[in-house]
Amino acid sequence: MRTLLADHPLVTHKLTLLRDARTDTATFRTLADELVTLLAYEATREVRVSPVTVETPVDIASGARLPAPKPLIVPVLRAGIGMLGGMTRLLPMASVGFVGMVRDEKSLVASTYANRLPARLDGREVFVLDPMLATGGTLVTVIGMLRDRGAAAVTAICLLAAPEGLARLDEAFPGDNVCVVTGAVDSHLNDKGYIVPGLGDAGDRLFGEI
Ligand code: URA
Repeated sequence: MRTLLADHPLVTHKLTLLRDARTDTATFRTLADELVTLLAYEATREVRVSPVTVETPVDIASGARLPAPKPLIVPVLRAGIGMLGGMTRLLPMASVGFVGMVRDEKSLVASTYANRLPARLDGREVFVLDPMLATGGTLVTVIGMLRDRGAAAVTAICLLAAPEGLARLDEAFPGDNVCVVTGAVDSHLNDKGYIVPGLGDAGDRLFGEI
């Protein structure tokens, strides 16, 4: 598993505003959307392209385009939905699948409650959206589901990551075709499984408490 820390000053600037407990839900949603687009730019750095030529008004130009099969974007419900707009802005041609995961607050174990993924993903590049890489349980399950379906490469985009979650993913996926792109790696997890200093509950901050 590879980790790409996108520590661009604009990423850090937006992340700092997201961390601030005084940032309201509407502002948080807008900032998260903008931040995901910046992270998506880094995450797609190695996306597969085919060489093409086009005729400009002046001459022939060499270029590139995304070939079939198109990438798949998978937001992890619920908080990953808050990242979808920022990602599809950069990859509007991608298809979108969904996985719903819920974490038991006592055991911190995540279980799957929804799955809308294609039956097969052979040769496809997949981008998973999950704002907080905490224990890593959710991403181990989701990436496992994608690899079982034949995904060629999986990149998880996370606003924030904890060292514990990164280590768990590295152990589960020692190969090269799994990558995590994150805006920051924080200190540790607390006893409730929250990232410290983190930004709190990403779902609640994006959509309000339920
Ligand atoms: N999920 C969150 O929303 N926040 C954390 O800090 C950890 C997991």
